[in-house]
Amino acid sequence: MCGIVGYVGQRPAQEILLAGLEKLEYRGYDSAGVSVLTGGEIASVRAVGNLSKLREAVEQGSIGSDPHETGPPVAVAVAEEPATSGIGHTRWATHGRVTESNAHPHFDTNDRVHVVVNGIVENYLSLKQRMTDMGADYTSETDAEVIAHLISHHMASAGSLTEAVCAAYNELEGHYAFVAMSADEPGMLVGARKECPLIVGRGDGEQFLGSAVPAFLAHTRDVQFIENGEVVVLRPGGVQFLRPDGTPLEREITHVDWDEATAEKGGYETFMLKEIHEQADAVAETIVDRTARGTGIDLAEAALDESLLQNIDRILILAAGTSFHAGLIGRYAIEEWARIPVEMDIASEWRYRNPIVSERELVIGITQSGETADTLAAMRLAQERGAKVLACTNVVGSQATRDADGVLYTRAGLEVSVAATKTFVCQVAAMYLLALRLAELRGTMEPARITELVSEIQHLPNRITELIDRLDAPVKAAAERHADSNFYLYLGRHVGRAVALEGALKLKEISYIATDAYAGGEMKHGPIALLDESTPVVCVATDMPILDKMISNIQEVRARGAHVIAIATEGDDRLEPVAEEVIYVPRTDWMLQALLAVIPLQLFAYHVARKRGLNVDQPRNLAKTVTVE
Ligand code: AGP
Repeated sequence: MCGIVGYVGQRPAQEILLAGLEKLEYRGYDSAGVSVLTGGEIASVRAVGNLSKLREAVEQGSIGSDPHETGPPVAVAVAEEPATSGIGHTRWATHGRVTESNAHPHFDTNDRVHVVVNGIVENYLSLKQRMTDMGADYTSETDAEVIAHLISHHMASAGSLTEAVCAAYNELEGHYAFVAMSADEPGMLVGARKECPLIVGRGDGEQFLGSAVPAFLAHTRDVQFIENGEVVVLRPGGVQFLRPDGTPLEREITHVDWDEATAEKGGYETFMLKEIHEQADAVAETIVDRTARGTGIDLAEAALDESLLQNIDRILILAAGTSFHAGLIGRYAIEEWARIPVEMDIASEWRYRNPIVSERELVIGITQSGETADTLAAMRLAQERGAKVLACTNVVGSQATRDADGVLYTRAGLEVSVAATKTFVCQVAAMYLLALRLAELRGTMEPARITELVSEIQHLPNRITELIDRLDAPVKAAAERHADSNFYLYLGRHVGRAVALEGALKLKEISYIATDAYAGGEMKHGPIALLDESTPVVCVATDMPILDKMISNIQEVRARGAHVIAIATEGDDRLEPVAEEVIYVPRTDWMLQALLAVIPLQLFAYHVARKRGLNVDQPRNLAKTVTVE
């Protein structure tokens, strides 16, 4: 999740921007940059690494070096008048490697328009081609740079930065927020928002922009929230809100009395809850450009030899913890859609069993951090034995990305909470994409069916938002009713089993309550002995071909007097008669239902742990990244 800051006012902008970026560090980043407007020119500096590297570069006087030149930055005379407007950015790489030229701000060919962008421009390839044909000179591998060229192009005809931003906005597809400044219109910033966050901070004779409130909390607590599809124009004396067609809008000022820690959590009480609420955006980022064609899946960026994918005999998925559960759902999707046999193992087990693997196999290592020692070791062993390895990870530049033959990124942004939530749903989404691409390549599904599934995948972000808005309060009430239980059994079949495993792990890791998760059909072979009237049994019973069998398992639970909490699909009335409580998730294709079904279980675990007064972001004995074997 990139971070954006902007300032326009009377005070020197540079330090305000750098300090604002430091307040957004918690969002995660791999490079950063600032641009300020001074003496009719825009001076810019960018650096790879943490913000101390950016500060060093600024202090070395490299700000203002010609961005079109290669080689070391050229120090220029510092402007006599300090700049009083500018933009800054922390980048979490998605398109393009972690390099200085891919860091923001990006600029147009004449270096008159600079932009900072968060999100993804889905149609950047066609726009880039058009701008290149008109003479634009690109200096980065990013999708974001196209916005600078597009605004510059529209400024030539529109005449003003505001009109040019509106015109550019109307051409952009995707999921983004950006801020632009022009050397030809000093003392002004223009921002726009579509899905990704951007917030205005109101000062006296100065105005601020940020991806989140901490960016400007040291200066003001008066904020204006920019809604989707809106443009804002900031001048020292005031802020205008517009629709992209130029219609002016009124926006009230809200006073926030958050402390810094609350502001970092976006107003949520914990990072985990914030990250649960970020899941719609995170999944949208993971799928947006890869499903942009509408009829199939584009995974060219993974850099895997597709002829290999056409000819492999078997896939092996290796992972740990929550990532293992995402792999399990991936296994079902790949087998169902692409008809390739898939084996799964826990990385720390597989690597010690003298495993058999061949060149005709693809090994997928799933690890959100890209640094889990056992998963990395298993991936290396697979490579040594001749297999090609694909890493599915959330962290650009992590060890897994350096070791693997190809990389499929989840684009969840930084996850602070130890309990994985948004990275899990993005891993599942990435597995769906891979499974469909394999089906396309191997011709195992009708193109019309693939198109139908792509459309369902594109609807997932909206369904996640709808689900969280509707379910948070009732799931919290259910969790509070059961928070004193000291054991929970989770049951599911097929993909529902993976969801049950993940729900059980989430509850045990943050609430310290014993849980067990079983395949429904396996319950009668042992765990049924645990059941009595005091046992809550969470049953994943969403739409799937073997739902009838799962309902029979629920009847077996009921016969022992245990309390059934069922996760079911909206419109399915078969669960009400057999469960004490039913939590409905939106209907979609049954395979995709698994991604939605896990969300009430995350919320359930969260509210049980909070009811018990626990620190969910940092549970005892656990680390976010497990680098020991
Ligand atoms: C999940 O909530 C846990 N934090 C844990 O199981 C985690 O998924 C596991 O340690 C694997 O981490 P990785 O995805 O970074 O490899």
